[in-house]
Amino acid sequence: MICLGIESTAHTFGVGIANSSGKVLANVLKPVVTKKGGIIPAEASDHHVKVCDEAIKEALAAAKFKLSDVGLIAFAQGPGIGHCLRVGAMAARSLSLLHKLPLVGVNHCIAHLEIGKLLTAAKEPVLLYVSGANTQVIAFESGKYRVFGETLDIGVGNMLDVFGREIGFGFPAGPKIMETAAKGKKYVEIPYVIKGMDVSFGGILTNVSEKARSGKYSKADLCYSLQETVFAMLVEAAERAMAHTGKKELLLGGGVASNIRLQEMCRIMCRERNAKMFVPERQFLVDNGAMIAWLGILEHKKGKQTKIKDSGIKPYWRTDEA
Ligand code: FE2
Repeated sequence: MICLGIESTAHTFGVGIANSSGKVLANVLKPVVTKKGGIIPAEASDHHVKVCDEAIKEALAAAKFKLSDVGLIAFAQGPGIGHCLRVGAMAARSLSLLHKLPLVGVNHCIAHLEIGKLLTAAKEPVLLYVSGANTQVIAFESGKYRVFGETLDIGVGNMLDVFGREIGFGFPAGPKIMETAAKGKKYVEIPYVIKGMDVSFGGILTNVSEKARSGKYSKADLCYSLQETVFAMLVEAAERAMAHTGKKELLLGGGVASNIRLQEMCRIMCRERNAKMFVPERQFLVDNGAMIAWLGILEHKKGKQTKIKDSGIKPYWRTDEA
């Protein structure tokens, strides 16, 4: 069985193709990038409409398939930005109806976990999922996916992006913050906000933005201090979930997980508690269609099919409700 998966929850329109033995045959990513400012939902959805057809064609060409070879269409039904989700859902519904193919709507956060399990040696990991909109510590426990910790307000990536805009970076700001942080020398005190296994970034963003505006600190020191503080919070939440579940594997997912300092801190924590850490390559860390195709196959194998009437988008779909 060949599945074509469509991702469009936020900034990236992605089309991936996977087969039922777990081989990824194509993974085409079309992200929105800006020189200045963040993502505007209406503009991102215009971008997705523009690249949609091209991305599907490129993915089929990369996999050396025609649409008639595809047996299943999967799409990210949620969570995400409504404007953006609608484009992917519409494309998936059209392909399903035109080519008489079964349709499966999948949860985007769980797709990050399952693609990580497919592409690394992780078997029963705790997933630290860190992206723009999402910050969750997820694991499969007692028959369902559970959220052990999460952000109480904005995602860590959004926080980094908004701070990046404050100091003149475009979208995505994460890579530039990482580069700038490497030049930082002096740690500046920033609030450390963790409640049990939950984290919060709103107050930190206000604090660090005010520090940037005061002109008293260098960009490098602020980026460095911000990364050290928020990554330590994430590592603490992940470690607590690992201790609670007794799991010995940590898997990273989401665009922020491509930050090498975060990876390093996770690696140290895992080493200290005799656990293993796994990071898929970048094209599968960020939002991508391959993870949607793979989760589509897994769910279809278990008998799931989404009827057209039930294929409406779910912008607030929680991981633990999937
Ligand atoms: Fe994501």
